[in-house]
Amino acid sequence: MEENILKKISFSAIQPSGTPTLGNYLGALKNWAALQEEFNCIYAIADLHALTVRQEPAELRKRTLAAISLAIACGIDPSRSLLFVQSHVHTHAELAWILNCWTPFGELSRMTQFKDKSQSHADNVNAGLFDYPVLMAADILLYNADVVPIGNDQKQHLELARNIAVRFNGIFPDVFRVPEPYMPKQGARVMSLQDPAKKMSKSDPNPNSYVSMLDDRDTIVRKFKRAVTDSGAEVRRGEGKDGINNLIDIYCAACGKTPDEVEREFAGKGYGDFKLAVGEAVADVLAPIKAEFDRLMGDKAYLEKVCADGADAALGVSSRTLRKVYKKVGLLQIK
Ligand code: TRP
Repeated sequence: MEENILKKISFSAIQPSGTPTLGNYLGALKNWAALQEEFNCIYAIADLHALTVRQEPAELRKRTLAAISLAIACGIDPSRSLLFVQSHVHTHAELAWILNCWTPFGELSRMTQFKDKSQSHADNVNAGLFDYPVLMAADILLYNADVVPIGNDQKQHLELARNIAVRFNGIFPDVFRVPEPYMPKQGARVMSLQDPAKKMSKSDPNPNSYVSMLDDRDTIVRKFKRAVTDSGAEVRRGEGKDGINNLIDIYCAACGKTPDEVEREFAGKGYGDFKLAVGEAVADVLAPIKAEFDRLMGDKAYLEKVCADGADAALGVSSRTLRKVYKKVGLLQIK
């Protein structure tokens, strides 16, 4: 990683669970590349977190490589940022264990994601699912992160990580830097194309409701053509027009235009023309990413080198924090 001591440290991670959607891209991944200007960035592929729900082993391996490729295709530059796979760096699981011993059971029981997932995966409510936020705290605290770019769904987990750090520092002073949440300025919230009251999600059973980042042009255009809108005709934002509001937001994010500009551009035109334009604009944004993704997936030697170099560098940084923690809590140090 190219380290600039004047820049703050940003840490973020993504689970290798299926191809991200257009919503994941416009809401998060797109900002990851931009953050490299402002921060020393650290990005992990959280494969240990993925194990908290059942995975097909061969599929998980494939998705992990795909996640690395996609991160690079989205503009994360491994020579500028630290990019690695969580399970390649053993300090994460080790710090998580220590932090477990300073995290009250009651605090973890209040995590809404645990409650939700215990319902959606009722046949497999395992200890890892319960402990998930502690591993996440370890991820962040190992690297002295100043900021953590997150969406709303991870806010409570970050709050817990902050509590863990503050409590630990209260007993053993000056060990952890307490991270701040970082909400990117223009993170778009993309809604389902079939039910615009719901967030776009790759776990939606209807594939027409979301655009995958790796969909081809025809598929993207077709999904936008079928997007659910209201019975109106004018391309204008408005109450009760969730479908059109969503398409306008997507078009703005894809072209860098404002909603006013979009309304002017489509004055006198109908929903059909507009849907086609949104589909094409999105396809134009995703096409170069998919091309670069395909190229990288064909270059396994390069991907393995990125992973190995990333893991090396991550281990170097995180070992310093882990050693300090082991010493503070009284684990015997030998040379
Ligand atoms: N739990 C996060 C998610 O599913 C992924 C994650 C793991 C993460 N460790 C992290 C995010 C540390 C931010 C910081 O989105």
